[in-house]
Amino acid sequence: MCHHNRFLLLNVAKSDIISLVFQVDETLCPFKLSQEQLQLVKARMRAGLEAGLKTKGSSAIKMLPSYVYRTPDGTEHGKYLALDLGGTNFRAMMVNFKRQNARLYHKIYTIPLEIMQGTGEELFDHIAQCVSDFLDYMGMKNAHLPAGFTFSFPCEQTAIDTVSGTLVSWTKGYKATDCEGHDVVSMLREAIKRRNEFDLDIVAVVNDTVGTMMSCAYEDPQCEIGLIAGTGTNVCYMEEEVDAELSKMCINTEWGGLGDDGSLDDIITPYDMEVNQNSINPGRQRFEKLTSGMYLGEIVRQVLLDLTRGGLLFRGHVTETLKTPGIFETKYLSQIERWEKLCVSVRETLGLKGTCDDSIIVKEVCGAVSRRAAQLCGAGMAAVVDKIRENRGLDHLNITVGVDGALYKLHPHFSRVLKDTTEVLAPQCNVTFLPSEEGSGKGAALISAVARQIITSRTGRWTLLDIMQQFRRELAKGLGRDTNPTAALKMLPTFVRSIPDGSEKGDFIALDLGGSNFRILRVKVSHEKKQTVQMESQIYDTPEDIIHGSGTRLFDHVAECLGDFMEKQNIKDKKLPVGFTFSFPCQQTKLDEGFLITWTKRFKAGGVEGMDVVKLLNKAIKKRGDYDADIMAVVNDTVGTMMTCGFDDQRCEVGIIIGTGTNACYMEELRNIDLVEGDEGRMCVNTEWGAFGDDGRLEDIRTEFDREIDRGSINPGKQLFEKMVSGMYMGELVRLILVKMAREGLVFEGRITPELLTKGKFETKHISAIEKSKEGLSKAREILTRLGVEPSTDDFSLVSQVCTVVSFRSANLIAAALAGILMRLKENKGVARLRTTVGIDGSLYKMHPQYARRLHKAVRRLVPDTDVRFLLSESGSGKGAAMVTAVAYRLAEHSRQIAQILSEFRLTTEQLLEVRKLSQWCVCVCVCVFPCVLCHYLTPS
Ligand code: BG6
Ligand code: BG6
Ligand code: GLC
Ligand code: GLC
Repeated sequence: MCHHNRFLLLNVAKSDIISLVFQVDETLCPFKLSQEQLQLVKARMRAGLEAGLKTKGSSAIKMLPSYVYRTPDGTEHGKYLALDLGGTNFRAMMVNFKRQNARLYHKIYTIPLEIMQGTGEELFDHIAQCVSDFLDYMGMKNAHLPAGFTFSFPCEQTAIDTVSGTLVSWTKGYKATDCEGHDVVSMLREAIKRRNEFDLDIVAVVNDTVGTMMSCAYEDPQCEIGLIAGTGTNVCYMEEEVDAELSKMCINTEWGGLGDDGSLDDIITPYDMEVNQNSINPGRQRFEKLTSGMYLGEIVRQVLLDLTRGGLLFRGHVTETLKTPGIFETKYLSQIERWEKLCVSVRETLGLKGTCDDSIIVKEVCGAVSRRAAQLCGAGMAAVVDKIRENRGLDHLNITVGVDGALYKLHPHFSRVLKDTTEVLAPQCNVTFLPSEEGSGKGAALISAVARQIITSRTGRWTLLDIMQQFRRELAKGLGRDTNPTAALKMLPTFVRSIPDGSEKGDFIALDLGGSNFRILRVKVSHEKKQTVQMESQIYDTPEDIIHGSGTRLFDHVAECLGDFMEKQNIKDKKLPVGFTFSFPCQQTKLDEGFLITWTKRFKAGGVEGMDVVKLLNKAIKKRGDYDADIMAVVNDTVGTMMTCGFDDQRCEVGIIIGTGTNACYMEELRNIDLVEGDEGRMCVNTEWGAFGDDGRLEDIRTEFDREIDRGSINPGKQLFEKMVSGMYMGELVRLILVKMAREGLVFEGRITPELLTKGKFETKHISAIEKSKEGLSKAREILTRLGVEPSTDDFSLVSQVCTVVSFRSANLIAAALAGILMRLKENKGVARLRTTVGIDGSLYKMHPQYARRLHKAVRRLVPDTDVRFLLSESGSGKGAAMVTAVAYRLAEHSRQIAQILSEFRLTTEQLLEVRKLSQWCVCVCVCVFPCVLCHYLTPS
């Protein structure tokens, strides 16, 4: 029942008051919702949200994934254009993010009704025209800026970096033809192309709710909900359970569709029905039509018409004005409800010639309609915050809602009623509503900044997950007997079956060839009380002409350096066991053999590919004749690194290199390695992950700069992953980007010096120097001066941004691949939580000031159920190679000793045949003396 307690201010005769009040209140009664009704709306909203998440788009509330995985973290930077279509106006905006600060410039354009409801082509041509005007206004026609597109209608997206949005259906006042079911980004791009006057790089398309959430989250990290209460109404929020692998993603609920399945029929009034019937989309957006700016005025007009027809208003005089749809705008509602100029408002703004009493009734109608709208939005919001609270398993939730829209901002009571209702209906949540100051454009620009990071360099988490999955598939492909020949990852068996067990000992030589230095080491492992290692080493030059000359020269050089080292160590007369770290892909069938598959990195010596490098080195040593060596093991540097770290930490089962090149090895279950016989135990596999993408898998994320690097390399089309991430190429990537930016006038005032154009002039160590926060600036000055440019302060910041983008991408991509390996280990072991250690080496990882931290963080985010220890290999891979050699040496010694003992037992074939007959005796000897070995000797082939 409704209460008749208002209208006391009406200037009518007392006797009439009662009847008037009664009749008006009767009319407004259905707008007054009880607590129980609001609770029901909340429950229906909640059910709608759940159904939408389950059915993916086919229910009343669509719950569209936005592929925005996080709110801003303050690292966003650069200049972006933001285009904001779908609210009251079209707005073009330029946003410049600099160190947690955003500068904004914008211009507003109205979109005429005939354009909103004309053809799609006309609409997008009109937008292109507005953008053109804005770029003129900003003097930025030639800037080719990255742009974010706020498109405030329901769109289906597939991933943020594919940059497309298929319009599901128009809402609010739009009805342009040939747009529904089409990608609006393509339509905008085509319109820009048709104008043929400027270019834009559209890097993100977002809903206004998402843009608003991001804008507000820039100020308040607790903001994880975006609400629009404007022409239309809608909410987005960070949902935790979108996909098993991702913890959070922003979902555009499109809550305006609640009730499209009839679930709100019990609260819908005849006036709402009328508004719905007259709208351009009857039957759809039922919740929106009860709550948003585009419809509230119309509802009020319908009620006024009814009251006037019943003689309760305007002396029963139904004017043409009152009969005109759209005449009563929501902004009037706001004005009327602000008490001050009430009578004037109604009369002047509406052109409705009524008395002040009429005005009071009009205000009462407005109040009922707007209050209901705010309460319904509050009920909806209560459902959303309760869902988030439950998702997180919390008793109490503190959360901020970023809000935009004219209704929220201009209406005198809407915001208060919304807040009160939310509080009453969701008592376990403390909800702060934060109005967005600058519209959703800033948020769209923030998302663009993130998206751009993915497209150009800094790979975002969603693509990283894809990459991780792709990498895992490739691992499996490389391990399979039939699939290995066509797999990009060669997954080479190493014949190393365990990490050091502490029993190794002896005096060894280790050669370490293939990283930035050629090093020879002497490694003494002793066992007095505890195992100790003593090492001495020397670095030798490997001049360019040797690594690019003939194989014979290369190995002669290695043999010569080894001779020199032995001489200096005074061991030329000894035949010490040698471990050979050879940091290139080798096919092995045993420990002391390695057929080079292909050179990588800088090496290109002729006649070595396809050959056994152990044989080549032995040959070179023999040829000299001044010393002897026993090469017992050839190991990849990743394996050497894993073994070095395994010496200190028994849990180490992965070795990775992030240096000149990049690669990883890990302990795989033997049963999964088709290329090696046997099912028991594990073997270390050299993945050669530098070749990831050589089959075209990474094409989506390779940039023009990556392609240029590849074209200019000694092995085009090969090691594509390595070329995106490793030390040999990163400096060059930065140089190429700077050249392009200079050509476009974005840095160095457009000046390009011969040094800047010289390949190799910008090295990866320069990236590390520039990214050091303290000396970074002076280093950057020094480096850039050497490149012949005179940098301005802005140039420094741009160059350092480019460095960050390139090194971030590297760390992220390596994290994705490493995460793939960790997931595999976890699966192999069948554990819920993996505890493991990764041994790491390489100059990039060691020298770059932030690389390690970024890598660790990204890995931990990608494989959340893992405790990973990253262990830096302090002493290079030589120590590990010595460990492998120690094991090989021990086994070889063992076999040699057995062979020696058995030689005394060796019988002639005749004797053997004789003996075989006496099998009983044989078994006895076998068991008593040398079980299996003897059996073997006693069984003729
Ligand atoms: C603006 C946002 O501030 O508010 C738009 O920038 C949004 O993206 C709009 O669509 C919503 O409000 P209204 O009242 O203009 O529909
Ligand atoms: C060294 C290892 O520490 O790192 C080498 O001993 C390895 O075996 C090298 O190849 C990798 O790093 P970079 O930066 O020298 O290529
Ligand atoms: C409509 C649109 C929605 C938008 C909202 C607010 O409901 O469908 O996408 O967010 O209006 O502008
Ligand atoms: C290259 C080599 C690989 C090595 C890596 C790191 O990718 O092919 O074998 O491990 O560089 O040095």
